[in-house]
Amino acid sequence: MANASRREFFRYLAASPLIAAADTGAIKSPKEALNVFDFEPVARAKLPPGHWGFIATGVDDEVTLAANREGFRKIQLRPRLLRDVTHVDMSVELFGTKWETPIILSPAGSQRAFHPEGEVAVARAANTRRTLQILSTATTCPIDKVAAAAGRPIWYQLYGATRWDISERMIRRAEAAGCPVLVLTVDLNIGRNTETLERFIRTDTRTCSSCHTSPYDGKPMFQGIDMTGATLLNSGMTWEWVRKLKSATHMKLVIKGIQTGEDAALCVENGADGIIVSNHGGRAVETGRSTIETLPEVLDGVKGRIPVLIDSGFRRGTDIFKALALGARAICIGRPYLWGLGAFGQPGVERVLELLRAELELVMGQCGTRTIPDITRASIRS
Ligand code: FNR
Repeated sequence: MANASRREFFRYLAASPLIAAADTGAIKSPKEALNVFDFEPVARAKLPPGHWGFIATGVDDEVTLAANREGFRKIQLRPRLLRDVTHVDMSVELFGTKWETPIILSPAGSQRAFHPEGEVAVARAANTRRTLQILSTATTCPIDKVAAAAGRPIWYQLYGATRWDISERMIRRAEAAGCPVLVLTVDLNIGRNTETLERFIRTDTRTCSSCHTSPYDGKPMFQGIDMTGATLLNSGMTWEWVRKLKSATHMKLVIKGIQTGEDAALCVENGADGIIVSNHGGRAVETGRSTIETLPEVLDGVKGRIPVLIDSGFRRGTDIFKALALGARAICIGRPYLWGLGAFGQPGVERVLELLRAELELVMGQCGTRTIPDITRASIRS
């Protein structure tokens, strides 16, 4: 090969995504991952642009998406030393069930767009890692199959449709699958502006409509339900709807997407059994505010009456520690496990859970906090 054409060949190789991945140290198996971020570029490389865009997107200028990470940097840890932390106990109790860690899998729709086994692969990972999974309304695997694979009760997340009978059918399906808790998501009722998703879709050369023509197509929770004239974006939903929902089921009711102290107090007054502080991972309203900064005012509104959970931006054991120190009962993760799923399927999700668990155990030990109740406001400086 002449020098010029060899140079040309190497230039071509260097431009290929595979070599670029090797250069940046992309992992080739879940066990190589040092932290949850290691799964992100692998999932991105493997997924079609439209599907990757759905995971990656925030809204508007993605200020809230970035704020979710920056919020954690404003809080520092206060390690207490020379305490016996040989056996760290990370267990928490939620509505009468004990979980080994406070780490929960947030609801996320359309998981078969990230891996052929979708929500069932995640459920198997939740099973082997003894973790709570929250299943989305927009699940692409049937709820009974997911519940069976999880091997322990899963929670069901509901988007309240504009027609009551649609929600009622879903509630009955969740009850029949043995879900003890219903999570009502209330932060997407008006819609959203996902520009990053739109841009990725424009670069996708496949014809999206050959697989899905409407958001409800092929989604098991909508099977046998006539969605004509109805939508899940229920802009008319009010607290009255919440009270109706509460009286329509024996499941515990958790409200997801709460971001103010006023609404937190109203959750309690309207019968909610729990709250998830969330900005949908920066993919609903462009508030510009991280959930870790929102958490204290929500806790003030709740005044200890019901458990407060939180998600959005959790990527490290120290992030989890900070939320627990402020008073959260548990935390949920979204994108990290979807990266794991997109990159390697079930083993990817398992490794994400292992990494976060190990990081939390480490920081608890380092800070002299042997159990979750040992983690208090005195454990941090904010
Ligand atoms: C979501 N989220 C979400 N929430 C919900 O209540 N129902 C849903 O169907 C979905 N679907 C969904 C899909 C995808 C691809 C993502 C990334 C997120 C929001 C999710 O439950 C959670 O609030 C955020 O993902 C948490 O933020 P992080 O961990 O992704 O930063």
